[in-house]
Amino acid sequence: MEYASLTLSFLFAFLLTCITVTITITLFSRSRSRLPPGPFPFPVIGNLLQLGNKPHHSLAKLSRRYGPLMSLKLGTITTIVVSSPDIAKEFFQTHDHSFSGRAVPDVARMVDHNNHSIVFLPAGDHWRRLRRISKEYMFSLQRLDASETLRQKKVKELIDHVNQCCTSERAVSIGGVAFTTSLNILSNFIFSMDFAQYDSLTSQEFKDNVWAIMELVGKPNIGDFFPILKSLDPQGLLQHANVYAKKIITIIDRVIDQRVQALSSSSTNNDVLDVLLNLNQIDESSINRNDMRHLFFALFIAGTDTTSSTLEWAMAELIHNPDKLEVARLEIIKLVEHKENILQESHLPQLPYLQAVIKETLWLHPPAPFLVPHQAIRDVEIQGFLVPKKAQILCNAWAMGRDPKVWSHPESFMPERFLDVNTNYKGQDFEFIPFGAGRRICPGLNMAHRILHIMLGSLIQKFNWKLEGNIKAKDMDMSEKFGLTLQKNVPLKVIPVRL
Ligand code: HEM
Repeated sequence: MEYASLTLSFLFAFLLTCITVTITITLFSRSRSRLPPGPFPFPVIGNLLQLGNKPHHSLAKLSRRYGPLMSLKLGTITTIVVSSPDIAKEFFQTHDHSFSGRAVPDVARMVDHNNHSIVFLPAGDHWRRLRRISKEYMFSLQRLDASETLRQKKVKELIDHVNQCCTSERAVSIGGVAFTTSLNILSNFIFSMDFAQYDSLTSQEFKDNVWAIMELVGKPNIGDFFPILKSLDPQGLLQHANVYAKKIITIIDRVIDQRVQALSSSSTNNDVLDVLLNLNQIDESSINRNDMRHLFFALFIAGTDTTSSTLEWAMAELIHNPDKLEVARLEIIKLVEHKENILQESHLPQLPYLQAVIKETLWLHPPAPFLVPHQAIRDVEIQGFLVPKKAQILCNAWAMGRDPKVWSHPESFMPERFLDVNTNYKGQDFEFIPFGAGRRICPGLNMAHRILHIMLGSLIQKFNWKLEGNIKAKDMDMSEKFGLTLQKNVPLKVIPVRL
């Protein structure tokens, strides 16, 4: 008995010493390293428990106490949280190069993607080459104009599908159909083929695998907070992601192989794949086969869920605010009634209210509330504090949209706030950066801009929308769920009524 209590006392004393030493080291290193202020980190877990299930809310609250430049320990990872336009400008304009690295999540190691992906490569030569190719051959004004007809066709298919739901009085899952449409717009742009169907009975291998990866990437991963555990993959997330990613890469490879064979018989589609294969033939060092498969893979992951969740939020906000829906609809109807009644991308500059609705949605519900986490590639001093090399940078775009010092009525859906100002999301106005800013700004911004307006505009121009189960607009559940993107907690399901 005595022996047992002695052992217990010893263990207790040992534990106490460990905790005291960790606290002293943390205090000492914090004051020495001049990190920005932040909540005191617990031994081992740091501030992990303070994240909660909506980390963008929790960090916004903490930054009100510690300031817009804040430091935390997430497990063993030093994390710097940026929560004001001024500080964001320092990071992504003044010191853009120093913060151009990526904090790579462990799941990104699926099929070695992190080493070939435009999203996760460090901002060196390889990444620059991929950015240049995407800019020139995919997202230039000329390429986007040339692909308008295909987006128009895909939106028409969406409207046809909704018309069928109308006839059979079936509810439409807005997020689901927006995901199918965004995926098909991308797959036709790149490969000239559909990768998804609206009808849920058809097998949808590609779409299901993309969904599965999104779910895995959105889950908190212990390995990201304690890199020492990475090799164990404690939750099996990497292992599962590998299975789905291999299936996606196999499908992409199959399409490329078929195209290479078809090209030898000189048929052309003039899509992105044709253009890149041609580039590869002229100069293999500009883009090789592996670059291509990982570039396409990255675009499908980065470009589908972001677009579809924004569209779902926009529809939800309009249905929740019927007076705003009416203003947006009348603006479109007035403009297109003499123009075959079909909304086109060239109409967008004449639809200021529709544009304000999309801005307001991205402002209230940025799909990537922390952007895609950056990493400092060297020590940098900001406002007298040290942001150390390898620190993870979370820019809380969501919190910046809620700052009452910058915006009036920050909790309300008020597209009008964007009507008389020139504020835009192109990376110049640091109070509003849902696509990021600086050299790592979203390369798909202009494409997303076109898709979102044309899809939303067509859905509200052609139909009225009734909530399932006769729920009243004011009683809608508008809560959100944190994951890879910021989703609606309760997916929007609505019954279309022809206008
Ligand atoms: C509403 C739609 C979208 C939103 C809100 C969005 C937002 C973002 C954000 C916040 C980033 C990170 C920026 C940063 O690190 O500072 C990003 C990166 C990226 N996005 Fe988008 N995005 C959207 C649509 C798209 C589309 C349609 C594509 C392509 C088809 C795309 C491709 C990419 C890629 C490849 C990156 C990585 C860029 C890099 O690391 O260099 N995104 N996006």
